[in-house]
Order: sequence, then C-alpha cells, then structure tokens
Amino acid sequence: MYKISPSILSADFSNIKEDILKTVEGGADYIHLDVMDGLFVPNITFGAPVIKKLRKITNKPFDVHLMIEKPERFIEDFKDAGADIITVHQEASIHLHRTITQIKSLGLKAGVSLNPATPIETIKHLLNDIDMILIMTVNPGFGGQGLIKEMKEKVMELRAIIDDNNLDIDIQVDGGVKLDNIEELKSWGANIFVVGSGIFKAKDIELETKKYKQKLIQ
Ligand code: DX5
Ligand code: ZN
Repeated sequence: MYKISPSILSADFSNIKEDILKTVEGGADYIHLDVMDGLFVPNITFGAPVIKKLRKITNKPFDVHLMIEKPERFIEDFKDAGADIITVHQEASIHLHRTITQIKSLGLKAGVSLNPATPIETIKHLLNDIDMILIMTVNPGFGGQGLIKEMKEKVMELRAIIDDNNLDIDIQVDGGVKLDNIEELKSWGANIFVVGSGIFKAKDIELETKKYKQKLIQ
C-alpha cells in the first residue's frame, strides 16, 4: 500500500493548522513530524509538547521521526503526545532492540531509520520486530536538500530482503522526494514517501498533495 507522509518541517508554523488540514484534504495518509535535538543532527525543531498540541488538528496517524540522541529517554513522552509510529535512528540508540521493544510494548508501530552511510546489515537482527524501515535519501537535518541517488541500491536490496522473507515491513524514503522522482523511488521498492518542501512550499498545498497521491496510483 502506497502512502504519502507530508513533513511539516517546511510548513509555515504561523499557519500550521490550515496547512496540515490542506494536506489531509489532498489525501495525506500520515503526518510526518521531524524531531531534532541539535546533537544527532545540526538543527533543532520541536518536541513532544508541540506534537501534543498538533494532535488536536487531525486524527491522521502521526509518523514521528526522532532525530535525537538516545531516543529511549523520550519514547513515553511521544506516546503520550499522540504518536502512532515512532521511528528511531540506528545510529542514535546503542541498545536498539531494547528501544524497539519499548516502542512496541506501548502499542505503537516501530520504525528504524538508516542514514545514507549506514548499511542494512546493522538492522538485520530486528527484521521480525519492526514495522517500518526509513531509508534516509538525504543526510538528516534540513528540508529542501537534493536526493542522494546512490540510495537506489539500498532501497532495492531492502525490498528484495522483505519480499524474499515475506516480511510485513514498510519501506519509507525521506529527503528530496519530489514530483519528478517519486515514481522512480516507487520503482526501487519504497512504499511510504515523506514529502516536505515539495508539498509545503507549494502555492496550493491541497492540490500539490493530490498530485503526489496521483503519481502513486499511476
Ligand atoms: C530531513 C527530514 C525530512 C525533511 C524532508 O532531515 O527528516 O523529513 O522534512 O524534507 P524535503 O522533502 O524537503 O527533503
Ligand atoms: Zn523525516
């Protein structure tokens, strides 16, 4: 099942409610929330209290992408804030299996994200425990960066592993996803597409979301 997860990182926060609702009208499947701590990535965004407020806007699943060191410290806070899916970085959590177990024990979906330089081998032991793998197609930290095309091999390798083993794991791609490359990313084997600047910097956010959705049914 193909899904669009608009990332509010590039949204106008003075108009956040309207902008999120426009993506929902346009067919957004999830809302992607990028949490950054200024340590794991060179940028700071928002945390659980802000997500809790945003939770009132829509009941679409909240897809929370934690770009923070030692995310295990805050899993419960994000659950209480209304997260439905929590994705942590392989590079940020030393006892990754324990962190995944923590997320799952709270009844949430668990994702693991890999930076461009991190190989799939590092999470092979987790494949029976996770719901989603986020392949970063940029180095995380900012919206509006260009897609690293070399991630093709990684996404295709992961798709083959998932299909060969009949695993129920979504492949999410995040960073540089645009109207002119989403079909190619789909052909690599990704099925959940995070789109930040491509949607929120558009003049008509609802129409733009619809265009992305349209690309996925073609
Ligand atoms: C990057 C974030 C992304 C970001 C994507 O570190 O994880 O979710 O918002 O933005 P675009 O689509 O503009 O590359
Ligand atoms: Zn993200």
